[in-house]
Amino acid sequence: MSTVPTQVTAELFNYLIARTTPEDAFLKELREAAIAAALPAIWISPEQAVFMHILLQISGAKRVLEIGTLGGYSAVAMAQALGPDGHIDTLELEPRHVAFAREWIERGGFTTNIHVHQGAALDTLASLAAGPTYDAVFIDADKGNYAAYLHQTLDMVRPGGLIMVDNAFAFGRILEDQTTTDDVWAIRAFNDLMAREQRVMSLIVPIADGLWVGVKQG
Ligand code: SAH
Ligand code: DHB
Ligand code: MG
Repeated sequence: MSTVPTQVTAELFNYLIARTTPEDAFLKELREAAIAAALPAIWISPEQAVFMHILLQISGAKRVLEIGTLGGYSAVAMAQALGPDGHIDTLELEPRHVAFAREWIERGGFTTNIHVHQGAALDTLASLAAGPTYDAVFIDADKGNYAAYLHQTLDMVRPGGLIMVDNAFAFGRILEDQTTTDDVWAIRAFNDLMAREQRVMSLIVPIADGLWVGVKQG
């Protein structure tokens, strides 16, 4: 038994994808419409959606906080895991993304389950902080604010709650020797902060662009 994990080659990756629960039909429709509408193609991958669905379902989560809605792909994927009595507050800055997400949330019949809040996430978080706590949080917006989002949301998620944070691999650039991209540096700093955060037991799962998965202690 090696301490270094098996390299996921393209061939092995194709093997496991072929054995992953296929993308939900409505999510596929939403994704294709998002491509047609020229939204940035940076939503979670179908296998990441399956993984997050499993985590949410086994944890029995009912209330989720999402930062970064885009077209609503991940919000809908999570809503499917929560069931009919689930609720998601999802935060999005761009009016065009909000409009697309709201349209598709309605088409999918998730209007009562998913509330899209338009505005800068830090402002919206401040207004939601006084409300009931969440069972899970998914952070997937502007990378420069990841540390602030973690700080703010840690107080909003219940003990035992699930913390998920996207893009731990910084678009695949996390180990580059040199980079001038602010987002990559922001993620490096965030990953180090998360690793030191004693209130969360966590690890980076090597799925898609790296997904932080943690559980709030205490
Ligand atoms: N979670 C989505 C993808 C989110 S992409 C999915 O998987 O389907 C990141 C989103 O964060 C973009 O739509 C971007 O407009 C939004 N965003 C960027 N800065 C933001 C801010 N300060 N507040 C809220 N949303 C922001
Ligand atoms: C980018 C942002 C994301 O959240 C993601 O999952 C992939 C790419 C980006 O800003 O390029
Ligand atoms: Mg992301």
